[in-house]
Amino acid sequence: MPQRERYLFVCTNRRSDDNPRGSCAAKGSEAVQQALKEGLARRGLNQLQARACKSSCLDQCARGVTVLVEPDHFFYGHVTAADVPEIAEGLVSGQRVERLVLTAEELAEG
Ligand code: FES
Repeated sequence: MPQRERYLFVCTNRRSDDNPRGSCAAKGSEAVQQALKEGLARRGLNQLQARACKSSCLDQCARGVTVLVEPDHFFYGHVTAADVPEIAEGLVSGQRVERLVLTAEELAEG
């Protein structure tokens, strides 16, 4: 398969329910990853433009579900399956979904 222009790493890390750090999987990230994968395929983006990958912890647990977009090198945070169409359309138009982009201050807080 060819190298894609972008890779979207969706954290699917799961911790036990009593872990105070929580986890993206507990917030529905597996469904987000699947919806993103399907959304990319539906728009024909999956062959060359973008691939939605599962990732281990991206160390932004409090802001999960987190998605790291590379090589653009920014994070989406608090992502839900409902956000997926907008994210996928943003890949078509070249516009990221600003309301979901984690700020430098948020990233610094972890
Ligand atoms: S559990 Fe998803 S960023 Fe840590």
